Amino acid sequence: MAGLLRWKKVSRKYLLRKVIGNRDFLDYDPKKFWTYAREDIQVDEGGSDAKLGNEGKRKALVSLIDKAGIKSAIEFGCGFGLNLKQVCEAYPNKKLELVGCDISRVQLEKAKTFMGEKNYKRAKLFEHDLANKMPYPDSSFDLVYSCGVLMHVLPKHIENVVNEMKRLSKDYVYLYERTNRYEEGERHENNFVFNYDYCKFFNDWKLAFSREFQKKHFVYIFRKKEFFDKSI
Ligand SMILES: C[S@@+](CC[C@H](N)C(=O)[O-])C[C@H]1O[C@@H](n2cnc3c(N)ncnc32)[C@H](O)[C@@H]1O
Repeated sequence: MAGLLRWKKVSRKYLLRKVIGNRDFLDYDPKKFWTYAREDIQVDEGGSDAKLGNEGKRKALVSLIDKAGIKSAIEFGCGFGLNLKQVCEAYPNKKLELVGCDISRVQLEKAKTFMGEKNYKRAKLFEHDLANKMPYPDSSFDLVYSCGVLMHVLPKHIENVVNEMKRLSKDYVYLYERTNRYEEGERHENNFVFNYDYCKFFNDWKLAFSREFQKKHFVYIFRKKEFFDKSI
């Protein structure tokens, strides 16, 4: 009986991945995709993540928090809390308000065990689809950041998401995304990654920092013009 139930669960997951994962991008539904098709997403700090050059992303984020004297930050698409955990561990005693949201309840649940109780309690996590307005007033956070998430936002929502980042940020926006290997708006071969020109979205802000990692990803730090004095 137990074997049959397990088989049913596995085959449901397999079918969902096959059906949702292979559909044309017009049918790419972020909520279904990230909740079911990517339910198996790697929860490891070293392996696949490090291979993608993500260490650089975390170093740049952690150092920005210190250099810019950040006291509050929100992560758009925090997943199972990889970056939040890193930030908590880098600043165990710092007074730092941390918030994270994600479309996938499954990923957020994984954060409980992945981040560890102490770090998990320190951050406020909530389920939210970035296509919708954020439940916070303007300029609520010193820093709004996102890593590997905007590339998964549908073209019809991307401007709203970027505008929400700008609206919530008091000062900084930090992005870690794919490099521009594809034409703007073009989807990658795997159906759920889109290419965007982030500098264009932030042309009314100042680019304070940018770096490419392993010719695959880049970090951008944008700053509101009125606060911009020098590069970090
Ligand atoms: C590649 S993972 C990155 C997770 C995390 N930022 C990190 O660096 O480890 C992409 C994340 O974006 C989330 N996501 C995708 N589309 C979203 C949307 N429309 N609203 C909120 N979260 C979304 C997914 O659930 C997933 O956790």
